[in-house]
Amino acid sequence: MPPALIVYTTRAEETKNIAELIAEGIRFSGAEAKVVNANEIKKESALEGYDAFVFGSPTYHGQMMQGMKTLLFLAEKANLEGKAGGSFGTFGWSGEAPDRIYDTMKNIFMMDMVSGPLRLKSLTLGGGIQMAQDYGREIGEKLVE
Ligand SMILES: Cc1cc2nc3c(=O)[nH]c(=O)nc-3n(C[C@H](O)[C@H](O)[C@H](O)COP(=O)(O)O)c2cc1C
Repeated sequence: MPPALIVYTTRAEETKNIAELIAEGIRFSGAEAKVVNANEIKKESALEGYDAFVFGSPTYHGQMMQGMKTLLFLAEKANLEGKAGGSFGTFGWSGEAPDRIYDTMKNIFMMDMVSGPLRLKSLTLGGGIQMAQDYGREIGEKLVE
């Protein structure tokens, strides 16, 4: 089993693309990573066996998508304390979702979080591809420490 699990929700695929780029960054640092849609995770046992988790959702109507809310309730039961963590999401203007996810992972799950959430407006603007890969490297560094 790879050490890092990246779970995303998406409506128009942008956040899925970020998930894949974060996985690339993790692999650059020498660790393996698996990417799954939150809808595929039906019970907390699907979260067992990983050392790092990166959860992502775009922002719609000021919120994360329902699938990510459901995943976070499920993750609450999975005892992720001390595991490496990060969050991400694309957005149009306000971008609340990655912050909400990050705060939940840090304050409720008590995870060992990277410096902050990854919030991206678009892959094509402002070096988004590089930023997503670098975020993956940051997670990867926690795994190969
Ligand atoms: C109906 C609708 C509502 C949206 N609401 C927000 C919002 O409240 N805040 C924000 O920052 N972006 C908002 N957006 C922009 C999306 O977050 C943005 O397009 C994002 O990249 C979509 O990600 P996805 O391709 O992973 O679904 C909204 C987009 C749509 C179509």
